[in-house]
Amino acid sequence: RDLQPLNSFGLPGRAAQFIRCDSVDSVQEAVRLPVFAQAARRLVLGGGSNLVITGDFAGCVLAPQIAGFARVGETADAWLVDVGAGEGWHATVARLLDEQLPGLENLALIPGSVGAAPIQNIGAYGLELTSRFHSLQAVEIETGALRRFSHADCAFGYRDSVFKRAAAGRFVIVSVTFALPKRWVPMVGYADVARGLAQRGVVDATPRDIFEVVVATRRAKLPDPAVLGNAGSFFKNPVVDASTWARLSGEHAEIVGYPQADGSVKLAAAWLIDRCGFKGQRRGAVGVHDRQALVLVNHGGARGGEVLALAQEIMGTVQRRFGVQLEPEPVVV
Ligand code: EPU
Repeated sequence: RDLQPLNSFGLPGRAAQFIRCDSVDSVQEAVRLPVFAQAARRLVLGGGSNLVITGDFAGCVLAPQIAGFARVGETADAWLVDVGAGEGWHATVARLLDEQLPGLENLALIPGSVGAAPIQNIGAYGLELTSRFHSLQAVEIETGALRRFSHADCAFGYRDSVFKRAAAGRFVIVSVTFALPKRWVPMVGYADVARGLAQRGVVDATPRDIFEVVVATRRAKLPDPAVLGNAGSFFKNPVVDASTWARLSGEHAEIVGYPQADGSVKLAAAWLIDRCGFKGQRRGAVGVHDRQALVLVNHGGARGGEVLALAQEIMGTVQRRFGVQLEPEPVVV
């Protein structure tokens, strides 16, 4: 099975085995099949928007393409909506808005599927998934059992969850239950959002206003994977301690950092990379996006190895120049 059309970077590679599942039952069956259970390597494939494929995959790919959208209840302050793992992320944000269930609009236009969203606790424009998450259901690969993970079970952090740590590779997420606030409050603290609303002359922002500003901002800064292959931000924004921040901000007056509650500071990796002169640079078929230095792009015909080589070059340069270690965000296959 050709994986190139199934990853947003458009990188070439074939999977030896491929199983598509369109229901929870079929996922439970699939994980017990020898072709999956005994495969040398296994990959659960969502929207393929956070992947670097480095070549042929000598294992079994499982694609949970489960549909579904249903209001399932409420808590004291939220409406609960259950969405199938295979639903598109952006389509889900738009549908919730259409059904008068706002709350995810700051996360509009993020590529990928609903089932993949909790794994890296997707976040943008001042909101992280964790703030709108109730629970999820996942099939345990070892046993085929269906298990519910509460908010606490997921151990969300910045671009992080239990599914990148203790539970990594052990579960197939089949549905996510969102908690949409009964009393909606606009999240307009992020500079790009505030600016976009001001430009439109919006004073009391509605969910639709925020949705439109976020969509316009992303279209202006981030490459459309259908046009220019990419996996969004290639690196996490590194978090440094207070003394490192003091050194860096002493040396570089314009450095961009966001103070965290615990005294650490989250640096804008895009600024570090930009400052090293990488923005818009090309290395053969790969390059750094010319409007967002955190995004690596496939200019056409790139192979995964070239993406990783450019990533290494950037990491080395940022380390030498700033003494800061960048950590890649996508999953390397
Ligand atoms: N900046 C530069 N040069 C650039 C781009 C940005 O110096 O080429 C500076 C800007 O001045 C800005 C700062 O870096 O002050 C931050 O840039 P931006 O607001 O674009 O956000 P980011 O930190 O680079 C993060 C997320 C994005 C998310 C945006 C908006 C991570 C790893 N990335 O990027 O998420 O859309 O904030 O909230 O946290 C993704 O994960 O794939 C992704 C796109």
